[in-house]
Amino acid sequence: MNKVHVLPPDVIAKIAAGEVVDRPASVVKELLENSIDAGAAIIEIHLKDAGKELIHIKDNGCGISRGDIERLFQRHATSKIQNIEDLEALASMGFRGEALYSIAAVADIALRSQTAGAKEAWSVHVRAGQRLDLAPAAPSGAGTDIQIRELFFNTPARRKFLKSNASEINHITGIIVPYALIYPDKRFVLTHAGRSLLDFQPASSRLDRAAAALSLEEKHFLQVSHNYPQEQMSVKAILGNINIQRPRRDTQYIFINGRPVEHKALSFTMNDVYRAVFPPGIYPVFILDIHVDPANVDVNIHPAKREVKIKDEAKLCSMVRHLSEDTLMRYGEAKSMEAGPASFYQPASMINEPPGTDFFGQLPDLFKNAGTTLPAAFQAPSGGDLRTKFAGARFIGSFVRKYLLFEEGTSLFLVDQHAAQERIMFEQFHKQIETGKVEVQHLLTPVLIKFSIPERVAWDEAGEKLKEFGIETALFDEETLAVHTQPVLLKNIENAVRTLLSGNDIARCDRATIARRACKASIVAGDALNPQQADYQRRQLIACQDPFTCPHGRPTVVELKENFLDKQFMRI
Ligand SMILES: Nc1ncnc2c1ncn2[C@@H]1O[C@H](COP(=O)(O)OP(=O)(O)OP(=O)(O)O)[C@@H](O)[C@H]1O
Ligand SMILES: [Mg+2]
Repeated sequence: MNKVHVLPPDVIAKIAAGEVVDRPASVVKELLENSIDAGAAIIEIHLKDAGKELIHIKDNGCGISRGDIERLFQRHATSKIQNIEDLEALASMGFRGEALYSIAAVADIALRSQTAGAKEAWSVHVRAGQRLDLAPAAPSGAGTDIQIRELFFNTPARRKFLKSNASEINHITGIIVPYALIYPDKRFVLTHAGRSLLDFQPASSRLDRAAAALSLEEKHFLQVSHNYPQEQMSVKAILGNINIQRPRRDTQYIFINGRPVEHKALSFTMNDVYRAVFPPGIYPVFILDIHVDPANVDVNIHPAKREVKIKDEAKLCSMVRHLSEDTLMRYGEAKSMEAGPASFYQPASMINEPPGTDFFGQLPDLFKNAGTTLPAAFQAPSGGDLRTKFAGARFIGSFVRKYLLFEEGTSLFLVDQHAAQERIMFEQFHKQIETGKVEVQHLLTPVLIKFSIPERVAWDEAGEKLKEFGIETALFDEETLAVHTQPVLLKNIENAVRTLLSGNDIARCDRATIARRACKASIVAGDALNPQQADYQRRQLIACQDPFTCPHGRPTVVELKENFLDKQFMRI
């Protein structure tokens, strides 16, 4: 008996849709890209129920003619490429002719459009891939207006996986912000349930737009651009200076030929540049706008075009590394000197090093990747005997204000001061939360924190919850949060609040996760400890339940045995 059959068109359409649209944010991405391709100067997006009930997008782009509207929802219907060679010189966001077909398969769409110079508009209604009507509509100027309702109404499994409104809106703003950064001359508007979430007015420069969109000041950015004619590449970078530190990598943007992409190698390179001066778990802000010969980029490797493949990636990474290091090195000094108390981590080297010193140089290999790739003789201790050994250890000095050195018998202990402090604070803070006795400090003047859009949304949903952790907050104005009390243990309340408002909804996290997140962002690193302080830290660490790893799983203490050193010096 034959078993193979061809699937019916509606099933094919639903499967195809699954590749392109998986949540409201991916619908927004496709529609936004279409409006940009249509040359719109103003793009408005209005949501209801985080897009689950309605995604309404309006643009003043070139519009769509009646004839084109008829073909619009067919698979592979596109105005953007004619043949496969066009892919080699792609200038538009779209090229597959898949987006509207896919969205139409899993939603209800009402589209109205008018082309420039036309006297009439046309409207069409499509539901689950079926065109219901096409009719003339009242003219209202060139542009396109699309309303998407009941997303995933016929694919309930997908609908079930949608997250809380805060989470879906986070994804949506996460889609819009990159396009706003790369198109500063366009106006972008986003509302939710009638409330304005963002309104980026046309800006005169990328820098202006970056400051507005990322809630930062222009003085926090370093800007650089460079052409590499031989490689047919150009790089424009806007780099957050070293005083701009974020608990997550979510304020980092990479564009290749005007398209926002995720690019692991470039992202690694950039974070690595800052790694030498940032404490672990702290990330920089940057915007990289890279142009390469379109023939050397393949955008057709990811269904949602999120990733691209570039020829000669290693060379590009190396150029970007040098450009960024050079910019940060030359400019970083002055910035960190004037940063004052707002700075949470000021590496001493940035202030004291004579000009020209390579403080982005690598730390000795000995201290990298502790506990993960080290030889057996040189490992993070574990087990009870080590606790006993370390309990009797004597402080003998510190290294680069980052590592404390202790000796005991034939062992040398290297303590990552920052990781150890994080462990100590985490256990103390966790205990205070568990027992409901968070020790708080009332702030004489509130700490004011300028919201980013996702932070504002997260605070609206879960701000009340912060109180349970000793953080009392109130709106100062529409864009600013005022913090009135802070837990005594948390030293950098701004970073702690930002971390708590980013990522997973705090209302859904357990207490340990919250303590871990708050502590991670709040440690003050880079302070030189005197012998008494160093020894106090050792004793506090020993008192911890789990002293030898930080709350994020990295080692706090590495043991180096005498015979390991003897081997290095070829004594044995
Ligand atoms: N807002 C808009 N303004 C003008 N034309 C539009 C708009 N949205 C869609 N179109 C037209 O509809 C066509 C189909 O859009 P669709 O997004 O499905 O495909 P695409 O953009 O060509 O390719 P991709 O699937 O890669 O996005 C586009 O090629 C374009 O001609
Ligand atoms: Mg498109």
